[in-house]
Amino acid sequence: MHIVDLIAKKRDGFQLTQEEINYLIQSYTKGNIPDYQMSAFLMATYFQKMNDEEATYLALSMRDSGDVIDLKDIPGIKVDKHSTGGVGDKVTLVLGPLLASLGVKFAKMSGRGLGHTGGTIDKLESIPGYKVELKIEDFINQVNTIGIAVVGQSGDVAPADKKLYALRDVTATVDVIPLIASSIMSKKLASGADAIVLDVKVGRGAFMKTEEEAVKLAELMVSIGRLAGKKMTAILTGMDEPLGHKIGNGLEVYEAIETLQGKGPQDLVDVTVEIGAHLLCDAELETDFNRAKQRLIEALNNGKAYQKFLELVKAQGGDLNAIKHPESLISKKTVSVKADQEGYIVDMNALDIGKAAMRLGAGREKKEDDVLLDVGLDLHKKIGSYVKKGDVLATLYVQNKGIEEAASLVLKAITIGSKKVERPLIYKTIK
Ligand code: URA
Repeated sequence: MHIVDLIAKKRDGFQLTQEEINYLIQSYTKGNIPDYQMSAFLMATYFQKMNDEEATYLALSMRDSGDVIDLKDIPGIKVDKHSTGGVGDKVTLVLGPLLASLGVKFAKMSGRGLGHTGGTIDKLESIPGYKVELKIEDFINQVNTIGIAVVGQSGDVAPADKKLYALRDVTATVDVIPLIASSIMSKKLASGADAIVLDVKVGRGAFMKTEEEAVKLAELMVSIGRLAGKKMTAILTGMDEPLGHKIGNGLEVYEAIETLQGKGPQDLVDVTVEIGAHLLCDAELETDFNRAKQRLIEALNNGKAYQKFLELVKAQGGDLNAIKHPESLISKKTVSVKADQEGYIVDMNALDIGKAAMRLGAGREKKEDDVLLDVGLDLHKKIGSYVKKGDVLATLYVQNKGIEEAASLVLKAITIGSKKVERPLIYKTIK
């Protein structure tokens, strides 16, 4: 097999076989195909695309380039969820303990944040003492004992994807649905779960800006997962405005705690319960979707989910006092951003809000950057709220950096108009 022939085959619009895709990926990972040839292949793919079979072969080949987590020592059906990334998305922090409180096994390896979107592992690190690294045996033991563990990715998961993604980033070839789908799914398939729900975000704060693109991506990921033998669901959820009110690492843990105590914002509860109900049914612990939703809401309101969260934090070495006093997780220095006119909030650009939190230090621009754990913002109003001139729109929790820039980004993000509007939250379910 010759790489030049494979580039030409894709350039001319033909379908590659599984063998050809394996050759391409394995040789590239080993360093036997140079970046300039892989770049040409990626650009050919950008224009000619890939069909579902090719995208599946690509996902499987990238999965097999590294460690595949083996969870067979955890009895029962293991579940996982993945969000394509948004602003204020702390669903995993609530969903994991919630599901585990109802007997679902939640063995989760999560990532760090990059750009305007946060990452679960950075958020958990805002809890003093919480260990995000566990040996695989300890990870498995913990799930067998308390039903849940949430750690950072260990080992070498999908190294082919890491290498290819870095190349896509500098060759203007990130934005190709089959490449995005196979990239995300290579890592999900390596995570060892039996059932996966994908939360595909749509809107300005999301990777996919339109519903049409999001549907295509979701359908392809569901198809790849199913061909690899997983139970799959994707839901499309809105990311025109942030999820919940609090954005930033410690702030999001704070809001997750409130939600686990039955005092969470409605949009966060709705998305969490929707994903949870699919997973409760996939785990074969419930047969009726609406009853599953009811049971999840009950577990948020009766303290069961919160108790499970305390067990998780304790098991991973976190300070329970910080959970009982979540105000300790956030900076004491605050700045208010006030409305400069009266009316309804008709728009709130999640991307700019995410950037504001990043400027304060909550997110990283480059992988190597450090994050500040106690900064971010709390939105007191959301789309549809009525505000008077001078009302506080948001409180910024700050240290020393980016305060003015963040305040002006928040003001720019929020549009005030005369008519009340509503935005859909859950657009669609793809099974
Ligand atoms: N996230 C990923 O993991 N891969 C992509 O290609 C895009 C977003």
